[in-house]
Amino acid sequence: MRLLTFSALLLSAALSAGCASEAESINDSSAEKAPEVVKMSRGKEVYQTNCIACHVSEGKPTIAPPIFAVKNHVMDKYPERADFVKRVAEWIKAPDADDVIMRGAVGKFGPMPPLAHLSDEDAKAVAEFIFDSDMALPDWYAKHYEEEHGEAPKAH
Ligand code: HEC
Repeated sequence: MRLLTFSALLLSAALSAGCASEAESINDSSAEKAPEVVKMSRGKEVYQTNCIACHVSEGKPTIAPPIFAVKNHVMDKYPERADFVKRVAEWIKAPDADDVIMRGAVGKFGPMPPLAHLSDEDAKAVAEFIFDSDMALPDWYAKHYEEEHGEAPKAH
């Protein structure tokens, strides 16, 4: 229960940060930047305000699987960019417990709550950002993956 309250707090902090940065981006003269750069930075912003509170990118996880582990597992199943983006964009707005890839994570951390407030564009932008970002797998994770799957994780 304590863990739940804590993640709810983190989430609401992340959400209110999200609103603030949305207001800022209205004044952003993004039209001057190349479209790819604008899209990438939007995805990063969505990621930082909506995902990072649960999906840590370094250190050991406490609330949810770390983002590099998420990327690695989803890419094992959806290696093509378009399929990966579609899967992640749909998942975050409405996670489906019957269609989960990271079964072990559900047992360990509980199911991911839906982020229904995200627009389709933001859901797509954050999925693209995760696919396009380089994410190194820390040694402890490689070891953990090998213990769980009997083989070293593939580098994606
Ligand atoms: C409140 C905590 C929380 C937040 C915020 C959160 N997640 Fe999750 N996420 C989880 C947990 C816990 C799991 C593992 C259990 C599960 O898969 O339902 C998970 C699993 C996932 C998975 C794996 C799905 C699968 O098929 O197994 C993806 C992809 C994912 N999250 C992406 C995201 C993205 C992208 C964001 C931000 C837009 C995000 N999550 C925000 C807690 C969170």
